[in-house]
Amino acid sequence: MIDPLCSMRRTHTCGELGAADAGREVVLAGWVLRRRDHGGVIFVDLRDREGITQVVFNPEVAPAAHAKAEAVRSEYVLGVRGRVERRPAGMENPALPTGAIEVMASELRILNTAQTPPFPVEDETETAEAVRLRHRHIDLRRPRLQRNLILRHRAAAAVRSYLNGRGFLDLETPFLTRSTPEGARDYLVPSRVNPGLFYALPQSPQLFKQLFMIAGFDRYYQIVRCFRDEDLRADRQPEFTQIDVEMSFVGEEDVMAVAEGMMAAVFREVRGIELPLPFPRLTYAEALDRYGLDKPDIRFGLELRDVTDIVAGSGFKVFAEAAAAGGRVKALNAKGCVEMSRKEIDDLTAFAAVYRAKGLAWIKIRPEGWQSPIAKFFTEGEKAALAERIGLAAGDLVFFVADRPAVVHEALGHLRNHLGEKLGLIPRERFAFVWVTRFPMFEWDETEKRLQALHHPFTAPLEEEAERLEAEPLAVGSRAYDLVLNGFEIGGGSIRIHERALQERVFRALGLSREESEEKFGFLLSALDSGAPPHGGIAFGFDRLVMLLCGESSIRDVIAFPKTQKAACLLTNAPSAVSRAQLDELGIKVRTPR
Ligand code: AMO
Ligand code: AMP
Repeated sequence: MIDPLCSMRRTHTCGELGAADAGREVVLAGWVLRRRDHGGVIFVDLRDREGITQVVFNPEVAPAAHAKAEAVRSEYVLGVRGRVERRPAGMENPALPTGAIEVMASELRILNTAQTPPFPVEDETETAEAVRLRHRHIDLRRPRLQRNLILRHRAAAAVRSYLNGRGFLDLETPFLTRSTPEGARDYLVPSRVNPGLFYALPQSPQLFKQLFMIAGFDRYYQIVRCFRDEDLRADRQPEFTQIDVEMSFVGEEDVMAVAEGMMAAVFREVRGIELPLPFPRLTYAEALDRYGLDKPDIRFGLELRDVTDIVAGSGFKVFAEAAAAGGRVKALNAKGCVEMSRKEIDDLTAFAAVYRAKGLAWIKIRPEGWQSPIAKFFTEGEKAALAERIGLAAGDLVFFVADRPAVVHEALGHLRNHLGEKLGLIPRERFAFVWVTRFPMFEWDETEKRLQALHHPFTAPLEEEAERLEAEPLAVGSRAYDLVLNGFEIGGGSIRIHERALQERVFRALGLSREESEEKFGFLLSALDSGAPPHGGIAFGFDRLVMLLCGESSIRDVIAFPKTQKAACLLTNAPSAVSRAQLDELGIKVRTPR
């Protein structure tokens, strides 16, 4: 077959011609965004990934091309030869980079026809996401998604360039491996040659990157896919991409400095933004105390205030009893919201209930005094102390939650974000990074009745607290750090355990017997025993980072082929049933769900 464009080599993209090109003979190729027939003259907006150019088919200039253009429809693929002309005065489109010109066509090739698209290829779309995902190749033509994926590419390039320039090696790790616990369920892959045995897709390359350090590769990175079978949300996908980093002979400061430098390079190159370094830091305890969450959005104030000591002896039983039971009572002051309606307060109460708050007490500060169902329970002295602690002024509306600390923090932390949004307190254009440090080593898992690693089991304890691993494991802090951006956890890492004895103690604290540790992590333990250097690292959620760089609110909008909430790919219909023969070969029998 001859090249359909053979005598017609593309000279420009659809996004680059301007007034200075007037008079030039050009060849463009692209897709038909729109075709308008203005009584004789046909206008076609031709689109490629770089932009849109208006092409004019005038029967008096090029009758053959015009005749062909009659048949052209949306999403047809065209090659067009023509001359660049300035648009007539008053017809310019300042909203379009090419809006000063149009191309007067002399020749048209219809390179392909197209079915009418299921939805218009435009940024403003009412089309349901499920429909867009089913026709993702068309959805991806929308300028916004094109911009997002191009930005994603540029961010990855900036990351590589930064790390390559600092001696990091881009090394690969296997996908068919055995499960590494990162807190989610594994995706399993059956082994045909070892019937009954399974690989796990990696939740992260954690152990492999540690093995790279032990093998002496020192600085490693990889932009790598990770797989986690967990409940999906707007910022979670079953397969997602990490920028994974590991370094030898380092402490927290070294890893954090690389992370900050890398973020600064990415924001500079991709968005032209100069980030102020170093990023601020909060300990885990401070983050919970002031913001309720370990991924605080510090773009706005609205901080929590602990009032437990003030209300512990009050006549309001809910507060007094929570305090007596070792819980906390905390307040959130929505300044100037005194006129909030009963309905709105009820909605906020329901919102807090999602995070297990049993209620949401409130007081309104009127010029004439407190208005609140609970005001009557407090003495003048308690009111004065609350007013001072919370910084009360006329016009304020204060919310309280009393409960176990975990419930108080989660409910008020999410309520804080919700109110920040609702009250317009969040400066949209700001990028507020914060490190969260000194996470606890463990948390208590109520359902499994055992300790869980808060980060992962390979994170080192704070040196000065390691001696309490056996006696008081929940009081031991770790050398883990998270990087938070605008309320999203975009990265997490730690200094690792590099001594076998300490690793064994941590496994024991997690309830693993000697045999289990040996069975699951024998290869790690013996590697630690073979001359492991001190090492540490971090991994960034690349999809989340790109989402924030793009100003999107779902990572699905920065992933070319994402999965739905139900972990399905609507384009290919994965997951799908497989043939009986395939199952037999794997020795697998499926109990079909009802
Ligand atoms: P962690 O589990 O914190 O650490 O993961 C690192 C970062 O990956 C992102 N992330 C996700 N993004 C999208 N969808 C998901 N399902 C998802 N899960 C996690 C987050 C998170 O901060 N091996 C360690 C890193 C280390 O210790 O070096 C790890 O994987 O932005
Ligand atoms: P009640 O005494 O149950 O009528 O509650 C009085 C007010 O206290 C209501 O506004 C409830 O929403 C609120 N409230 C109840 N339990 C809690 C709690 N655990 N924390 C904060 N407020 C609560």
